[in-house]
Amino acid sequence: MMLGCGTPSADANRSYYNKGMPDRPPSSPVNASQSERSEIIFPADANALGNLFGGRLMQFIDLVGATAASRHARAFTVTASMDHLDFVAPVHVGDLLILKASVNRAFRTSMEIGVKAMVEDVRAQTLRHVSSAYLTYVAVDLAGNRLEVPEVIPETDHQIRRYEAALRRRQLRSEEMARKKEHHSNLPPEWLL
Ligand SMILES: CC(C)(COP(=O)(O)OP(=O)(O)OC[C@H]1O[C@@H](n2cnc3c(N)ncnc32)[C@H](O)[C@@H]1OP(=O)(O)O)[C@@H](O)C(=O)NCCC(=O)NCCS
Repeated sequence: MMLGCGTPSADANRSYYNKGMPDRPPSSPVNASQSERSEIIFPADANALGNLFGGRLMQFIDLVGATAASRHARAFTVTASMDHLDFVAPVHVGDLLILKASVNRAFRTSMEIGVKAMVEDVRAQTLRHVSSAYLTYVAVDLAGNRLEVPEVIPETDHQIRRYEAALRRRQLRSEEMARKKEHHSNLPPEWLL
């Protein structure tokens, strides 16, 4: 059963919460839930120029992000938001696309996941950065109720930097959400269809 876009298939019995364990699961290091996905790009995924279609890349990003989020939460997750996304370089048909996701920070029921997409040149053994994104996932049970997520333990300097930056981004998101709410409350009813 799938709940929400990008949620990987999972055995419901793996969830802490479905076993009647409402306590917050124990903290977990970043490495424990890091996820990777590899894709060889076929013509069916390409636009008219022979490059990977942007929406398909977004789907890959959401899928690998949801894998890391669900592993960390030990529960189903839904995608709450995807921050600003840059397509910094095209991905061509035949390219080997590598996507890596890790939990930057866990909050109460939500987690920020960082995803980096790269193209691997297997002959030169190099990686070319093509896109990055920050996504927020919320843990839910089978009825869609929100669940508390474990805290994440950053261990390396890089993980600590991302952990600290994630809090600043959350504050910016909250401000943006409040601004949008205020904007919506001022719209005339006919605009709210
Ligand atoms: C995401 C969702 C569960 C949030 O519900 P909500 O009623 O706004 O819940 P709350 O206000 O209690 O927020 C729950 C958490 O989500 C976070 N959140 C809510 N909206 C968010 C957004 N747009 N961006 C980032 N975080 C968000 C809150 O900060 C909160 O985090 P915390 O518990 O760690 O502090 C709800 O909006 C939803 O179900 N959306 C649809 C999800 C979906 O179907 N995704 C797939 C699309 S294909």
